[in-house]
Amino acid sequence: MKSIFILTGAGISAESGIQTFRGSDGLWEGHRLEDVASPGGFHRDPTMVYSFYNVRRAKIRDAIPNAAHSALARLERDFPGTVTLVTQNIDDLHERAGSRQVVHMHGEAMKARCLKCQAISLCETTLDETNRCPACGTVGTLRPHIVWFGEIPLFLEEIDHALTQADLFVAIGTSGVVYPAAGFAELAARHGIRTIEINPASTEISPHFDEHLRGPATEKVPAWVDGILSATSV
Ligand code: APR
Repeated sequence: MKSIFILTGAGISAESGIQTFRGSDGLWEGHRLEDVASPGGFHRDPTMVYSFYNVRRAKIRDAIPNAAHSALARLERDFPGTVTLVTQNIDDLHERAGSRQVVHMHGEAMKARCLKCQAISLCETTLDETNRCPACGTVGTLRPHIVWFGEIPLFLEEIDHALTQADLFVAIGTSGVVYPAAGFAELAARHGIRTIEINPASTEISPHFDEHLRGPATEKVPAWVDGILSATSV
């Protein structure tokens, strides 16, 4: 095996204390998704949306990467072939666990994007109408660098290329309801790529996987990484 493609979702950060999206109440931290995660919601009430992400950013800063994030960093470091890590998460826990190449297809909480010049800048604390874009100098044009509903995810070409070249596709902690990521397992299966789902629950996309490792990410991911690394060590 030469190439592993990993897709992570909110479930991998759940044991670090970051709430997943689709809890039983259908709300994200008490808010309707369309209010806080859509261009229309931002247009209607930018102050509320800025403040929502300021709170998320603070929670992410306080969270600590868990054993599953660390195991994936170890895999990237020690696997002799290629490891592509694509995440739907906007947190930076993969990076803080030591992963060096993380593809954030839904954007990043710690970054802002200028609506005027499109430049992406770091924003690790508070973002609101008073921030100045460090690239073009305009005040009030920065928005969270997050892909909202109705917007196109990032890096889709690179992702498609890496996925279709892979020998193994592993989805960790994702419910498989948001496309295009929800379609990756089926695409992999169509290309004859072996597929593994790591999730305590079965999901909409479970039927597309060859193997299911049922349990929390902090337990199943390190054990799976150990198995891969011991099979490839000489
Ligand atoms: N370990 C592994 N998986 C877990 C754990 C855990 N400890 N706890 C929960 N899960 C699983 C749940 O069973 C569920 O299948 O994580 C999944 C979380 O699903 P969602 O909350 O829907 O998150 P995700 O699939 O990442 O959402 C996709 O939706 O709202 C948008 O843009 C947002 O990126 C997000 C996208």
